[in-house]
Amino acid sequence: MLNVPPVTAYLNGRFAPLDQLQVSVLDRGFLFGDGVYEVIPVYDRQPFRLTEHLNRLATSLESVRIPNPHTPAEWAAIIGELIAKQASADQSVYLQVTRGPAWPRNHAFPAKVEPTVFLFADPLTPPAPALVENGVVAATMADIRWLRCNVKAISLLANVLARQHGVDEGVAETILLRDGLLIEGSASNIFIVKNGVIAAPPPSHLMLTGITYDLIIELARQHGMPIEIREVSETELRDANEVWLSSSSREVLAVVSLDGRPVGNGTPGPIYRAIYRHYQAFKAGVMRIGHDRPLDQT
Ligand SMILES: Cc1ncc(COP(=O)(O)O)c(C=O)c1O
Repeated sequence: MLNVPPVTAYLNGRFAPLDQLQVSVLDRGFLFGDGVYEVIPVYDRQPFRLTEHLNRLATSLESVRIPNPHTPAEWAAIIGELIAKQASADQSVYLQVTRGPAWPRNHAFPAKVEPTVFLFADPLTPPAPALVENGVVAATMADIRWLRCNVKAISLLANVLARQHGVDEGVAETILLRDGLLIEGSASNIFIVKNGVIAAPPPSHLMLTGITYDLIIELARQHGMPIEIREVSETELRDANEVWLSSSSREVLAVVSLDGRPVGNGTPGPIYRAIYRHYQAFKAGVMRIGHDRPLDQT
């Protein structure tokens, strides 16, 4: 038996305890990995950067030709109700839309199908202070994924294998390299710092543009920190003074060791500490104001 936490989930219009919801074995999400998803952090019951997450969801759906089953206002209402039903104030909302159940099993899209909409919320724990203070270790691996990594698809087999490679190696993240270039982590985006200048790969079909990635770039620019969005070579990654990873659940963490070799002096660097401070200040502002961006930017 699975030890499912007593959280409320949502399936196709109905809220119920997570362990009581079921989907058809003929759902194309189950048979083909035919669907897309989002993970939205919630701080003090405020969804963080909701507009950006819903925009990315809409783009993912459009890319795989699944009709968006809800307007932004409808999504916000479902997510708001889900959040209100949880015990924890800080949550991580998982949202998945698949193409829906269909018979006969056929790779091609069925003529008529209703998307399956599934959400649940989990208590969110920010990265432990020790991780922020000491950083994390990472390993590299060749990127064997498809060429539409900008779509947040539920078919994640290559990411799963990359992440498991990291677990087997005893590291916190696996950094993916393709054709001599830094791409991203198995479930994060990657930044480097060299001689005081931050650099990160540009959005492309090869990586998922993280909501956190966008926010970090925004914060760096706002605070006058030099940043270049450009291709980053494997050599530059290995030669960097600082390496960071970013994601909605891990926020921003310093990578202090890569493939067993220290990054810079092997501790989180000064630029990391600055961006981490700005990130936390931004989060605190959102929580105080109760909106997904500070008032002067609305
Ligand atoms: C492959 C990949 N890249 C980047 C990210 C970071 O995206 P976000 O900052 O929106 O969480 C994720 C998040 O899970 C991911 O799976």
